[in-house]
Amino acid sequence: MQHRSERALEGRGEAGPCRILAIETSCDETSVAVVENGRRILSNVVSSQVETHRKFGGVVPEVASRKHVETMTVMIEEAVRESGFTLRDMTAIAVTQGPGLVGALLVGLVAAKALALTLNKPLIGVHHIAGHIYANRLVAELEYPLLALVVSGGHTELVYMEAEGKFHIIGHTRDDAAGEAYDKVARALGLPYPGGPFIDKLAMSGEAEPLALPRVWLEADSYDFSFSGLKSAVLAAVNTAAMKGEPLPAAAVARGFQDSVVEVLTEKALRAAKQFGACQLLLCGGVAANRGLRSALESRCAAAGVPLIVPPLSLCTDNAAMIAAAAYVKWQHGQLAGLDLQAEPMLSLEDWSV
Ligand code: KG4
Ligand code: ZN
Repeated sequence: MQHRSERALEGRGEAGPCRILAIETSCDETSVAVVENGRRILSNVVSSQVETHRKFGGVVPEVASRKHVETMTVMIEEAVRESGFTLRDMTAIAVTQGPGLVGALLVGLVAAKALALTLNKPLIGVHHIAGHIYANRLVAELEYPLLALVVSGGHTELVYMEAEGKFHIIGHTRDDAAGEAYDKVARALGLPYPGGPFIDKLAMSGEAEPLALPRVWLEADSYDFSFSGLKSAVLAAVNTAAMKGEPLPAAAVARGFQDSVVEVLTEKALRAAKQFGACQLLLCGGVAANRGLRSALESRCAAAGVPLIVPPLSLCTDNAAMIAAAAYVKWQHGQLAGLDLQAEPMLSLEDWSV
């Protein structure tokens, strides 16, 4: 339950810096951070479970929850120690409320509630995607209206923001997320999980001509995406070639796939930036690490005169500093959570707006 708190409103401004301790456990990274005034990172510790899940070829939810439980206390201690402050010096406790794996989210929520209750600090529930977007505020001053291209393992969205904390989803994937498609194509090529970085490397190696693959534009005016048809086209081409005994070079497949994904993402993002008069384009989520996507966006944005903001890789992948950055917006608006805050695996970004 979100409610306005007079205490929060009074606590802003004169009372000194707002120091938020944030917890992120929505998927397979356990992370705790301390961030001052929504932009100064005092600590941001991340424990990745990727090695654990790799042998299963993807994230196993029960294993993820268990790992979060095992790591949580140590991560909180580490983040507080690194910040140079103590738990008592924190202004508020923030936590990812959703979307994500319900069991994983619950571990973070229980830890955050325990801290808020025992320290008598306000609690702030945060939307994971708002966190990915506000990761950009850790590296740049945001200017509205802006457009955010969110590309991660679980999400692909174009988000328009006319003002701070106001989210409008103008386009989203109708099936697979971009990162998910990368990981599935990588698996078909026998590459390790998560396969995005491996496909990227192969695609950029210049070792082969790209496999010809379709671009999925959907309706002419749509900002939605679809990657499952492209993924099926890749799998069909790979299987057919293998059956003929003439396997396709992995670099050709990777380059063809990446060219298609990058072209569609870039084209739609630039069209939307123009239509909505965006002052900035923010690139957010794990797929923002993709070199092909970055360089295509850099040149298109430069040509269109739209500043492109891309956080460093450590802030693009799941981390708690981005959750603290988004929590600060809620804090400024006095929108705090009660101790009855629930994990919401399908939490809506638009509903989370201030
Ligand atoms: O944002 P993130 O860390 O986790 C989610 O919230 O989903 O994104 C992880 C995704 C994975 O699918 C991974 O394969 C993809 O980001 N990824 C990449 C690259 N680096 C990570 N995809 C394409 N190219 C990359 N260089
Ligand atoms: Zn994420």
